[in-house]
Amino acid sequence: MKSSSSSLVRVGVIGAGLMGREVASAFGRWFALLDCPVRPELTAVGDVNAAALDWFRQVPGVRHFDSDYRTLIAREDVDVVYVAVPHHLHEEIYLDVLRAGKDLFAEKPFGIDLAAARHVRDEARKLGRFVRVSSEFPFLPGAQRAIAVAQSGSLGRVLGARCAFLHSSDLDPMKPINWKRQNKSCGEAGVMNDLGLHVAHVPLRLGWRPTQVFAELQQIYTERPDGRGGTAPCDTWDNATLHCMAPIAGQAAPLTLEVRRLAPGETNTWIIEVLGTDRGVRYSTKEPKTLWLFRREREQWWEKTDLGFGTPFRTITGGIFEPGFPDILQQMWAAFLAERAGELNNRYGCATPDEAVASHEIWQAALSSHSEGRVSVIR
Ligand SMILES: NC(=O)c1ccc[n+]([C@@H]2O[C@H](COP(=O)([O-])OP(=O)(O)OC[C@H]3O[C@@H](n4cnc5c(N)ncnc54)[C@H](O)[C@@H]3O)[C@@H](O)[C@H]2O)c1
Repeated sequence: MKSSSSSLVRVGVIGAGLMGREVASAFGRWFALLDCPVRPELTAVGDVNAAALDWFRQVPGVRHFDSDYRTLIAREDVDVVYVAVPHHLHEEIYLDVLRAGKDLFAEKPFGIDLAAARHVRDEARKLGRFVRVSSEFPFLPGAQRAIAVAQSGSLGRVLGARCAFLHSSDLDPMKPINWKRQNKSCGEAGVMNDLGLHVAHVPLRLGWRPTQVFAELQQIYTERPDGRGGTAPCDTWDNATLHCMAPIAGQAAPLTLEVRRLAPGETNTWIIEVLGTDRGVRYSTKEPKTLWLFRREREQWWEKTDLGFGTPFRTITGGIFEPGFPDILQQMWAAFLAERAGELNNRYGCATPDEAVASHEIWQAALSSHSEGRVSVIR
């Protein structure tokens, strides 16, 4: 889809929770971007919770506050819908958005399971709608540099890669239950549904689709306070380590995908590491400005580079400053809107429905690997 420079796209948000608010914040300082060809305007917000809708009354431009998302998707002044709701609602709401003739920015995991993801992907293809899936970490300058090293052809013999996303907020057993901790709303894949696309997006984009998976899944707390004085079952997988084989830079090599809700000391740590016999790269949001590059010559070197604000879309922010979560969320949205307008050029694009489906294939293989205690093959 092609549009004129600096065209306006009217966005409606369904799900006025954590992520819905982050999107309003990213749009609110769009003037920080210097070269994005499209400008979003948040016109409508939908949520079943009136208090969540009320937060948006402070957001300039929002003129519709809909308690039923069907009202929002029928509106004339909405071109694109962003949906950020619990996973068991993805399939129904995503399909309704597409059938209402709107383009869709979907949240991960893109349906509660593989069947749902395939259904939405196939319907979008049939209807010819533009759909992408939220996954913001590749838009960090450090991630972009790691991707460039992985694609450079200079690794030598590939020794392997690791992608990890680590949280620690669930270490406290008294943290009340929420929908992300129950299979009926989060999905049987548990933490893989919740955090998995963040570790699968870059490998899949680079063509490192696992062919074999051996999974170690852990469920650590089996119940939590229900917030009303009682307890409720907490039946999702909390931590998952997937030992895979994948064609990394054209060579079959180990790929480790790790997602943890109980990782001591980690708040929101995203890690990528790719190692070869000649070159390698390591990047972690734990040290958001630091890129580690390995090279082997007469001696072996791990070189540390202090990164600046080298985001895919240029900004008003000085080149030596450091980006954070709200910045990369805005970059991801810029990529979504630019690609929809046919003006992404050579920049990194958002996760595609095919990539989301491929990630669900990995989680499904991991579930059978763990339950059967063997390596699962993905064909
Ligand atoms: N990309 C990221 O970094 C990231 C981070 C967190 C969550 N997420 C994803 O975003 C989605 C939402 O997560 P969240 O943390 O924002 O959840 P949240 O619980 O904070 O918000 C969800 C909102 O959806 C609303 N809702 C529930 N049913 C609804 C319905 N039928 N119609 C309209 N609204 C309804 C709830 O009232 C709530 O306000 C999930 O898919 C999650 O995996 C992505």
